[in-house]
Amino acid sequence: MTTTARVAGDLDGHFTREERRIRAELDEFLRIPSVSARSEHNADTARCAQWLADKIRALGMDASVHPTPGHPIVVGEWRKAGPDAPTILVYGHYDVQPVEPLDLWTSPPFEPTVRDGKLYARGSVDDKGQLYIHIKAAEALLEQRGKLPINLIFLAEGEEEVGSDNLAGFVEKHAEMLRADAVVISDSSMFAPGLPSVLSSLRGLAYFQIDVVGPAQDLHSGSYGGAVVNPAMALARILATMHDSKGRVAIKGFYDKVRKWDKKSRDAFHKLPFSDKHFRVETGAPALGGEEGFSTLERIWTRPTCEVNGLLSGYTGEGAKTVLPSKAMAKVSCRLVPDQDPASIGRLFAAHVKRVAPKGVKVSVTPLHGGKPWRAELSGPLYDAARHALQAAFGKAPVIVGEGGSIPVVGDFTRVLKTPVLLMGFGLPGENAHAPDEWIAIENFTKGLRAVATLYERLGSQAS
Ligand code: BES
Ligand code: MN
Ligand code: MN
Repeated sequence: MTTTARVAGDLDGHFTREERRIRAELDEFLRIPSVSARSEHNADTARCAQWLADKIRALGMDASVHPTPGHPIVVGEWRKAGPDAPTILVYGHYDVQPVEPLDLWTSPPFEPTVRDGKLYARGSVDDKGQLYIHIKAAEALLEQRGKLPINLIFLAEGEEEVGSDNLAGFVEKHAEMLRADAVVISDSSMFAPGLPSVLSSLRGLAYFQIDVVGPAQDLHSGSYGGAVVNPAMALARILATMHDSKGRVAIKGFYDKVRKWDKKSRDAFHKLPFSDKHFRVETGAPALGGEEGFSTLERIWTRPTCEVNGLLSGYTGEGAKTVLPSKAMAKVSCRLVPDQDPASIGRLFAAHVKRVAPKGVKVSVTPLHGGKPWRAELSGPLYDAARHALQAAFGKAPVIVGEGGSIPVVGDFTRVLKTPVLLMGFGLPGENAHAPDEWIAIENFTKGLRAVATLYERLGSQAS
């Protein structure tokens, strides 16, 4: 018996017959350089939204492209399953991260290339490949059954990788149109190859820029050094106050809202196939480190952080230049856990920086973006259907895993639509999301198609 034997035969046959065409369409999607962070790609990003809407229309669904002050939002709708069938909202993002450093890509980022069972391209796993699984699963059901078992809404944004600034407002404004019984998202990874996974949590995010300004221009470090406060040193001092000697974030009030993880969930983490050594080798870091008293998975999944993401000051070119820089800048972000809130953390962060800022320089904190943390309820018909579908497609029951990354809109779905959210992803560790040589395992893409089609069918049959 093959692992996909429990996926309905006509769907399985459909995906086998149509695989070449589906993969060719995915390649087309991946060739569009929809880099949301770069204005020189704005036209490509807009073209990508149109391309997606056209593909959704080609299924016989309605599709609309909604302009925003940033990148457009694409909505697809099919509501002919009737009032008794559940309505499922599928969310994904069609924007991708920048591709630099380009010279580290084995094949060009926007020329999808297969090597060793992996499809390499920017967006292959995050998130175009995973979003496309849902579109082609709906197509299979429409072609094989003539209709969908559920009322289906696709919501695809082009700003996830830059903080989803315009999406929460859109969800609030169109709450009626987006009203659903469940939200389903594939924008995450499986814990290990062959081990389908359902997410139990996401961390939130609060992102800041710190600017330190000293003298009006760079100064000769001999003529002025020692008598004028150095902005680079001032910034280093500020950053050095962010943690205590136990690896805890030293911002006053930072942990006040942190909810304790229950023992049952933490014990479940320790049953997962995970080794610190493996993890360390995967990162290439000489040693692991973090908050005392927590395991690696607890640190990533259940604890908040404060990390420097970028630093800039002074002379960084070849050789030496004796200069006292006029300014210094750091990008700093905090990953948040329930029930921390990005706006309150922003206030605590700014107050902390103000308190520790050395005299003799001007220091400012600018919030860049934020998103709420999220924790799943993990029970009920949605999760039963997910277990069934993943078991049918992968031949194995899913494991429940946490996640350290963020998908800002998930908290808004819970808050505004009050809908349960299922995160069921088809990526893998080492897939290089956000990095050179991003890939998706072709096997997971094809099993993902079967899992999602089975999920929709199961959700539809639960209704009556
Ligand atoms: N798909 C990721 C979120 C994610 C990361 C899920 C790792 C599972 C594993 C998403 O596209 C992402 O990169 N989110 C950003 C959010 C930020 C730009 C607001 C993140 O986590 O950094
Ligand atoms: Mn993503
Ligand atoms: Mn991403």
